[in-house]
Amino acid sequence: MIEKSVSPLREELHQQLIGRDRRHVWHPFSAATSGSDLIAIESARGAVLQTADGRELLDCISSWWVNLFGHAHPRIAAAVAEQASRLEQVIFAGFTHEPAIQLAESLAGLLPGDLNRVFFSDDGSTSVEVALKMAAQYWQNIGKPERRRVMAFEGGYHGDTLGAMSAGASSGFFEAWRRWMIEVDVMPFVDTWQDDAKIQAREAEALATLDRFLEQHADEVAVMIMEPLVQGASGMRMCRPQFVVGVIERLRRHDILIVFDEVMTGFGRTGENFACDVVGVQPDLICLSKGVTGGFLPLGVTVASDRIYDSFAGAGQTMFCHGHSYTANPLGCAAANASLQLLQLPETRKSWQRIEAAHRDGLKQVSRHQLATRLRQQGTIAALNVRVDDPGYRSQIGQQLKQWFWHPHDSIDDVLIRPLGNVVYLMPPYCMNDEQLETAWTSIDRALELIMETP
Ligand SMILES: Cc1ncc(COP(=O)(O)O)c(C=O)c1O
Repeated sequence: MIEKSVSPLREELHQQLIGRDRRHVWHPFSAATSGSDLIAIESARGAVLQTADGRELLDCISSWWVNLFGHAHPRIAAAVAEQASRLEQVIFAGFTHEPAIQLAESLAGLLPGDLNRVFFSDDGSTSVEVALKMAAQYWQNIGKPERRRVMAFEGGYHGDTLGAMSAGASSGFFEAWRRWMIEVDVMPFVDTWQDDAKIQAREAEALATLDRFLEQHADEVAVMIMEPLVQGASGMRMCRPQFVVGVIERLRRHDILIVFDEVMTGFGRTGENFACDVVGVQPDLICLSKGVTGGFLPLGVTVASDRIYDSFAGAGQTMFCHGHSYTANPLGCAAANASLQLLQLPETRKSWQRIEAAHRDGLKQVSRHQLATRLRQQGTIAALNVRVDDPGYRSQIGQQLKQWFWHPHDSIDDVLIRPLGNVVYLMPPYCMNDEQLETAWTSIDRALELIMETP
C-alpha cells in the first residue's frame, strides 16, 4: 500500500512551491493554465516518487519512459558522481574521452550486425534529426542526390524539432507548425490487440498500399523512419513483428535506408534489448535516448551502419556538419555505461519476464470491464483503450483519470499513470516489485469501475 497521508505543514510548503513555479516556469505538453494540478517531487527511490507534501506516488511510466532500474539507483549515481569529480565536460570535436569510447564499444557490441558507428547528441529528437540528416547526406555522398523523399508511418512520433516533427506530423501534435515542415510520405501503420480477428487482412491491405507507392516513387526515396513494434506517443499502438518484416523486405528491395527510432523501445522495453532484436532485422540507422542513461541524464545516440559511415569517410572525406555543445557529455556517458552494465545482468531479463507475466494477469483482470478495449502488450509495456465518445489524445477521460491517479482519492492508490487521452498504459521501471505491479493494475481496475459509476 502506498503512503497517502499529507501533513498540513507539508501541504503548505507544497503550495508555496507550486505558487513560485506558476510565476516563472513553462511546462512541456501542458496547458499553460494547468498549474494548479502540478505536483512537486522532492525525491525518489526505486519505483516510488516522494511528493513535497509527503505523499508517495508509484512511478508506473518510468517518468516519461526514461527510467530503467529505479530512481536514484546507487550504481548509476556513484558512476555519475565519480565522473563529475574527474571530467564533467570537454569539447568533442578533435577530442575524446574514455566514457564515450566505452559506451560506443558497448552499444556496437549490443546492437545487431554492422551498426558500428556511434554519433552522440542530446536527446531523442536530436538523435532523430541526426539520423535523417545522415540519410539525406548519404545519398549525396554516393552521387544520388535525387533520392530525397522521406517516408514514415501514420501515427509515428519522433520528437519536437523540425525534422522530427515533420516525420511525426501525422501524430497530430504539430498542427501549429505544419507550414514549416519538410514533406513526408505517410504509410499506413497497422496496430493490433488481443483477439484482433481482422489483422491479417488489414496488414495485407497496408502492404499493398506500400507496394503501390513504391512502384511509383521508390527511386526517389532516401529513407523510411519508423517506431518499430510500438508507437508510443500516439497511444501505445502495437503492431506484429511480421508486419514490420513485411515492410522492411519491400524497402530493402528498393535499397531504401531504414531508420529505427528506438528512443522509447530501446533497452528492454519490448522484451529484448531492442525492438530490432524482436523483429530480427538490422536497420541502417538506429536512434536511442531516454533509457540509455538509465533515466539519469539527457543523451541522444544515433548508430549508423558501416555503409553509411564509409560514405562520409571515403576519398574526398565528407564532413557531417552537425554537433552539439554537450556532444558525448562525460557524465551522460558514465551514467549510460553503468546502466548498460545493469542491463546485461541476468536478473534484468528475469525482471522483464516477471513484469510481462504481471501485465498478462493485469490485462486479464481488467478485461472484465466493458469499457476496456484493445488490450495489448509488448514486453514490459501494456496498454488498453477506454471506450469513450471522444477517443484520441484530447479525450476528456484522460484528464479525469489523471485526477484520480495522481491526487489523493479514497479508493485509488496514488500512482503516476499518465494516460495518452483515452489510452491507459503501464511502462514500469524494471525494479517494480510484484506488490507494486498489483497496485498499478488494481488502480486501473478501480478507475474503470469509477468511470462506470460516474454519471
Ligand atoms: C519514439 C520517440 N522518438 C523520439 C522522441 C523524442 O525524444 P525527446 O523527448 O528526448 O526529444 C520520443 C519521445 O517521447 C519518442 O517516443
